[in-house]
Amino acid sequence: MSSAPIVTARRAESIKYAVRDVVLVARRAEAAGLKLLYLNIGDPNIFDFVTPPHIVEAICKALHDNQTSYTASEGLSPALEAIRQDAEERCGIRGVRDAFVGNGASECIEVALSALVDAGQKVLTPSPGYPLYTALLGKLGCPEVPYYLDEAQGWQPDVADIAAKIDADTRAIVLINPNNPTGSMCEPSTMEQILELARKHDLVVFADEIYDRLVLDEAKHISIASLADDVPVLTFNGLSKAFLGPGLRLGWCVTSGPEARLRPYIDAMHKFLRARLCASHPVQHAVVPALQGDQSHIAEACGRLRLRRDITVQMLNAIDGISCVAPQAAFYAFPRLERAPDDEGWVKGLISSRGVVAVHGSGFGQRPGTSHFRVVFLPPEDVLRQAFAHIAEYGAG
Ligand SMILES: Cc1ncc(COP(=O)(O)O)c(C=O)c1O
Repeated sequence: MSSAPIVTARRAESIKYAVRDVVLVARRAEAAGLKLLYLNIGDPNIFDFVTPPHIVEAICKALHDNQTSYTASEGLSPALEAIRQDAEERCGIRGVRDAFVGNGASECIEVALSALVDAGQKVLTPSPGYPLYTALLGKLGCPEVPYYLDEAQGWQPDVADIAAKIDADTRAIVLINPNNPTGSMCEPSTMEQILELARKHDLVVFADEIYDRLVLDEAKHISIASLADDVPVLTFNGLSKAFLGPGLRLGWCVTSGPEARLRPYIDAMHKFLRARLCASHPVQHAVVPALQGDQSHIAEACGRLRLRRDITVQMLNAIDGISCVAPQAAFYAFPRLERAPDDEGWVKGLISSRGVVAVHGSGFGQRPGTSHFRVVFLPPEDVLRQAFAHIAEYGAG
């Protein structure tokens, strides 16, 4: 028998996930005796946010009632009805053709991409943006095609850049709205232009709206699918963020648009859904209470996040060499390092010398020649103040 190390698939080489990769640097800093302040992971429940009791009770009841069999692959009917109703009535999405649940929005996104693209085809992804899309596309043998968000315009998608990057191999455009890592919301006029490009080039729109309820200012979130019923749009959401249950692993996808065009795509997605059996059965019982029950935790969470966002923006902008566009939603800020061209080196130095765990901007993509870092403003105010004071001492390069 060979004692040689196992040769791994080449596709593993392209997988990078900076949010967790920085943890390795953090562990070394901790072993060296530093106290760490974690500003790297978008998980409300490791801070002072708690899953609402009605959601917990629904899952506990399902477990006690032996609701642990497999379910239909697309999900339980009452959960799917609640998801459709939420999409139609709260989001204003017209022409809903399908809905399914998965183990997190992540699994839904993987199913949707797997059923759409062949190796070599292209999906335009926002830069900066959540790195799951590029990781999945890498696995599917698709090249990275980032389109840029315009920092000078409050991180609006650069529509001219999207238009320039569409070619005969392009199949879809991903819009993360509100965006991770910038916390920006997409203007309706920008969405109209993206829809126009999708119409012109027969593209599918992936609308990742997992932060849609976590809006911190007066602005109202608008779902891109509510602006058109003639464009195929897949809208993703779930229990992880606004329902304060990231480890519950329950997300969903709502497909809207022209029935005849969508039918083969919906059928293909359902083949993938059947092959993975189903999403967690007891957790599916939390969907109806989450969408139709008490929503007061959302306003409460947004109130706390607003304060934390304001501290973040004010303290970061006070540091010479850092500028931060104020996030309008979610719990991330993506400040710019005006004088430090190597953001990864800067972040690693910050972790190992001050114990502040942020993530380098290159982990999310950014315009060449610019440099950023992402912070999560979920921690309580005193932790944030301490972290930003450490960043001020460390300096911006
Ligand atoms: C934009 C975005 N989409 C999807 C996800 C993953 O969602 P889920 O936990 O439902 O898989 C995240 C998690 O951080 C995210 O930021």
